[in-house]
Amino acid sequence: MNTLTNKRVLLGVSGSIAAYKSPDIVRRLQDLGAEVRVIVTDGGKEFVSERSLQTISKNKVHSNLWDKEAELAMGHIELAKWSDIVIIAPASANTIAKLCHGRADDLLSTVILATDAKVMLAPSMNQQMYASKAMKDNLKILLKRGIVIIEPGFGEQACGDVGEGRLAEALDIANQAADLFTSTSLSGKKVLITLGGTIEAIDPVRYISNHSSGKMGMALAHQCIQAGAKTTLIIGSISIDIEKRAEVIHIVSADEMYEAVMKRIESQDLFICCAAVADFRPKNVSHNKIKKNNSPVTIELTENKDILASVCQLSKRPICIGFAAESENFIVNARAKLESKACEAIILNDISQSEIGLNSDKNEVHFITKEHCEKIEKNSKQIIAEKIIEKITNYYF
Ligand code: CTP
Repeated sequence: MNTLTNKRVLLGVSGSIAAYKSPDIVRRLQDLGAEVRVIVTDGGKEFVSERSLQTISKNKVHSNLWDKEAELAMGHIELAKWSDIVIIAPASANTIAKLCHGRADDLLSTVILATDAKVMLAPSMNQQMYASKAMKDNLKILLKRGIVIIEPGFGEQACGDVGEGRLAEALDIANQAADLFTSTSLSGKKVLITLGGTIEAIDPVRYISNHSSGKMGMALAHQCIQAGAKTTLIIGSISIDIEKRAEVIHIVSADEMYEAVMKRIESQDLFICCAAVADFRPKNVSHNKIKKNNSPVTIELTENKDILASVCQLSKRPICIGFAAESENFIVNARAKLESKACEAIILNDISQSEIGLNSDKNEVHFITKEHCEKIEKNSKQIIAEKIIEKITNYYF
């Protein structure tokens, strides 16, 4: 059975009598492992209390697009980004018509426009309304846009009519949502990811570091969590938001990263070494700020431990995946790294092109093992991460 483990579900409750069933939908989604937040429209509020939804979802219920305080806490764009899936259940005739026209006159319709998450809706209305030509045309348009429609049931309705238009059962809604996430490939697995750059102090104010943003590592973290893994991140210097569902350890230097990794590595199933670890650090860190005195300053460097290579030497170790940041002789250098570090696979990054790799939102990589060398074409780091995790799970789990 598919689950919603680690999935973030935004449930939109709109104005239909069946809104009274929405707390049960929240429960069924939670039973499958989802974290649930709820948006209730003004119409929805006529049929279900915000307090019930808040108590059951264990989260503040969102309803007003113009609420300044709510926008400060979690505004419409954040809600849109937070969600892995938005489910509108019940979806009233009015809400469905609004979605068709891309209107943004309340919180729910605005979030739908702003999200790139999967969207699913469960219509619920009087059978005559559901059978109307306008409704059928609207649903066809939404289907064409990739929105998943959960067919309503047939039976006696609140108004006394008999026909098609009853809200689908809560359990069916939850199960159909879970079916959309086919990957449970890392379910029960533990993944450790290093990401970001390390910072090597020269004196109390100066340091050696690099341009790593942590974007690729965070995208991988997101994908591992989506695939059901218990994910731990060892984070150096980054310039992005941290995936809140991961366990997080912050470090500064390569030495600290080494210690943090070694402390946790034994229990891991997969180690992805995505950090841009500084290869060298100043041999002596000055306690005081180094003054200029008209003579050149020389900083003697000493080599940092290679974290990936050290983990690969352990007798009990997880599957190890490294990155290779290269600016020339790409495949040859990456293959040499695969061999010298003795990891299972190397993901080759071409850092000579400014629009991919370090600090950019896009990437293009090669996934290299002893037997394979597969190109993953240029795409967003999120999609690249999805394909990398797909390959790792296919080959090793
Ligand atoms: N790495 C590491 N510890 C280090 C240096 C690198 O764990 N001290 C890891 C990186 O996280 C990456 C892989 O080793 O997964 C390759 O890193 P890269 O910077 O491409 O290569 P280096 O080993 O540092 O070699 P060079 O800089 O000479 O290319």
